[in-house]
Amino acid sequence: MVDQAQGEEAAKGPLRLKGRRVLVTAGPTFEPLDPVRGLTNRSSGKQGYAVAEALADLGAEVTLISGPVGLPTPAAVRRVSVLTAEQMLEACRAALPVDVAVMTAAVADWRPDAVAETKLSREAGPPEIRLVANPDILAVISRPGPERPGLVVGFAAETDAVEVHARDKLRRKGCDWMVASDVTRPGVLGGEENAVTLVTRAGEEDWPRAAKAEIGRRLAERIAEALTT
Ligand code: CTP
Repeated sequence: MVDQAQGEEAAKGPLRLKGRRVLVTAGPTFEPLDPVRGLTNRSSGKQGYAVAEALADLGAEVTLISGPVGLPTPAAVRRVSVLTAEQMLEACRAALPVDVAVMTAAVADWRPDAVAETKLSREAGPPEIRLVANPDILAVISRPGPERPGLVVGFAAETDAVEVHARDKLRRKGCDWMVASDVTRPGVLGGEENAVTLVTRAGEEDWPRAAKAEIGRRLAERIAEALTT
């Protein structure tokens, strides 16, 4: 049994997320068109991996559901590798229940409606590709219900009117916080640094530009504070 003093110590100490289960999504998804081709995007996964690592450093039990990226799995993080948005949603559902979900993945919004079994031949001429909508994983996980995590954090990559779009997305998707970044700033997409605004229901906070690892630590600290106050 943990006595009250020990409990209070855990809330402030270095392992203040001990015993908390957290789900993090990261990286792009890859939506196949045939066995060798597909639709994807330029997400490096760096910010999501940094968040997963920082949460694990505070003692959380982290499941990192990752699209295809060339990054090593952070120590003490359980990684589940997926390719498509549908697989990512399935893996997220399997990871529930969790206390916190942080959805940093750059999920492809659409996928080809059919996947050719064999490589599409150049001889046949350019294929007509019909796209269908992928599930919105963040919106699904944010839906009210017994399995909804207590805190759901989304990420928004924007090119203009960053806060306005991020707040609109927070409302549409039903999450609690949105970490918004302006991806037109040099060095952000695929780079080592990020400049973000934390949008919550209560207001907005601009965080100074910093290394993605530092943004990850800061977010993990904020999450720990939110869970213990
Ligand atoms: N997201 C998701 N599933 C999707 C699309 C997005 O879970 N199919 C999540 C992302 O992981 C991120 C948040 O939603 O946490 C915002 O992603 P973003 O790409 O900015 O939002 P979209 O809904 O795709 O909006 P738009 O493309 O119109 O900017």
